[in-house]
Amino acid sequence: MEQLNWGELPFGYVKTDYNVRCYYRNGQWGELEVSSDENISLHIAATALHYGQESFEGLKAFMGKDGRIRLFRWQENAKRMRNSAVGIRMAEVPDDIFIAAIQKVITLNKRFVPPYGSGASLYLRPLLIGSGPQVGVKPANEYLFLMFVTPVGPYFKEGFKPVKMKLEREYDRAAPLGTGHIKVGGNYAASLNSLHKAHEQGYASALFLDAKEKKYIDEAGPANFFGIKNNTYITPHSHSILPSITNMSLVEIAQEMGLKVERRSIEIGELSSFEEAGACGTAAVISPIGQIDDLSTGQSFVYSKDGEAGPISTQLYKRLQAIQTGDMPDTHGWIEFVD
Ligand SMILES: Cc1ncc(COP(=O)(O)O)c(C=O)c1O
Repeated sequence: MEQLNWGELPFGYVKTDYNVRCYYRNGQWGELEVSSDENISLHIAATALHYGQESFEGLKAFMGKDGRIRLFRWQENAKRMRNSAVGIRMAEVPDDIFIAAIQKVITLNKRFVPPYGSGASLYLRPLLIGSGPQVGVKPANEYLFLMFVTPVGPYFKEGFKPVKMKLEREYDRAAPLGTGHIKVGGNYAASLNSLHKAHEQGYASALFLDAKEKKYIDEAGPANFFGIKNNTYITPHSHSILPSITNMSLVEIAQEMGLKVERRSIEIGELSSFEEAGACGTAAVISPIGQIDDLSTGQSFVYSKDGEAGPISTQLYKRLQAIQTGDMPDTHGWIEFVD
């Protein structure tokens, strides 16, 4: 293989050697299969194609200084994928198949695990789709669970720097009693115009508001939102946001750092009182937010004037990253080794 430049890898697809697959047929899951084909053969009437029966996950594996590959909280991803399956009436992937797929796909693609210290990691993409045919709006009788991996570069190539976001006033990502709390493709399709427009306007992302009242912060594109003030970590409580595993972990780290934690509604007006703000998710751990613009009122909420992230966000970021790479002891039982 030509040598990959680990530090320059984008957050994108790089072909690896193998992926793994498992089919659900006649009411049961089959054996895990290994494939080197990047394509799948799918029935033209598969429900994934017509009715959006699809869910995906995203998690990372990290090479430690000790040469051991670490997985971060895979059980939470497995659980979330089961919730997604229940939410759109798909067959649930049992945890033993989920972890067997992870172990196999990493072991077979070991040469793509970026080295310790490169800032890069191996991104795992589990996917569950309705593969069986239906013409009426009904769930499929057959499902395909697959997992591929791709090495991804460090998210912040120029360092951990704050980004600009805009309040989204034009589009909703998820309905109040819809599917925002699960990780299904339809939510992402619904966010594409918003994110495209935000990028065109020079923003890193858009901050979605609650779809019912348009008064509260929901989440930041594919990441949860948090604000910090008065030594308190505050993050929205909402049915229409995805329960982020990174956010869940930052909440615990924040408490260990002596911060209070509040999970509650955040009104737009409260943005002006935060000392720091950030977006959190697997891709970046934390994207510090330097400024949020409300284009409908012309108001800007500014969290960084010097182009640097705030001290608490920086601490949170460093601690979580250190646990993931094994530089700090894992006192929570979040890490599992791939052998
Ligand atoms: C909509 C949305 N919110 C939040 C997150 C962050 O979740 P996690 O920390 O589990 O990656 C993601 C990414 O998975 C996402 O797609």
